[in-house]
Amino acid sequence: MRRIPICILRALILAGAVGLPSSAQEQSVKPGINQNFQNPNPAEFIKRFERAGRDIYDYREKIVEACGLQPGTDIADVGAGTGLFSRLFAQKVGPKGVVRAVDISDEFVAHITNTCAAAGITNVIASVCASDDIGLPPDSTDVAFVCDTYHHLEFPQKTLRSIHRALREHGRLVVIDFERIPGKSSQWILDHVRAGKDLVRKEIESAGFHFGEEKGFLRENYLMVFEKPGP
Ligand SMILES: C[S@@+](CC[C@H](N)C(=O)[O-])C[C@H]1O[C@@H](n2cnc3c(N)ncnc32)[C@H](O)[C@@H]1O
Repeated sequence: MRRIPICILRALILAGAVGLPSSAQEQSVKPGINQNFQNPNPAEFIKRFERAGRDIYDYREKIVEACGLQPGTDIADVGAGTGLFSRLFAQKVGPKGVVRAVDISDEFVAHITNTCAAAGITNVIASVCASDDIGLPPDSTDVAFVCDTYHHLEFPQKTLRSIHRALREHGRLVVIDFERIPGKSSQWILDHVRAGKDLVRKEIESAGFHFGEEKGFLRENYLMVFEKPGP
């Protein structure tokens, strides 16, 4: 049987033409994408992330609603940034639920810890994670929330595997990211965002998740919900 040269196979995988065996994905899919998050100044990012006009900020209440949280739900905010959603989730899940805010940036994690302590929020646990592993215990969460972060994942298959592990059976993965449509999206999005919605869905499904639904209320972003199937 003829073998496909490794360089061609890699190009096909990056182009999304073939499935993504997680073991094949050892190199960063977007080197440099997290440059701005090395030693970030949280005050600066609050102005960017928590401002009117940002799709995700304007629709934050509807986004929280779409996560279907109940008192006692455990949720992981993956790539929590300045903690915008972690604080909103904390109110929804109440004292019996836990919000695990994880991020690769020490500064954001310290900021979340400090702001939650100052606000008397006791059910948010913030921790620094690796760029290829969210670092949460197996079966520790009901919902994993990945907002404006999927396109920052340098090792998406490995990170997805760690999310899959951390979720309980029938746990949900909520992914919000920019629509990326060649010929329609801005040049900034085309350059900055690696994958469009269809490829993102394919990658997530190839990590063992089942597609659930898409909610269409955002302007520049999509919101997709997946499920970790039971046995
Ligand atoms: C554009 S910000 C979004 C922050 C927040 N989710 C929001 O929507 O306001 C992306 C965040 O993902 C974090 N990040 C990047 N790669 C990550 C990874 N592999 N695991 C966890 N967090 C990551 C960055 O440090 C940054 O805080």
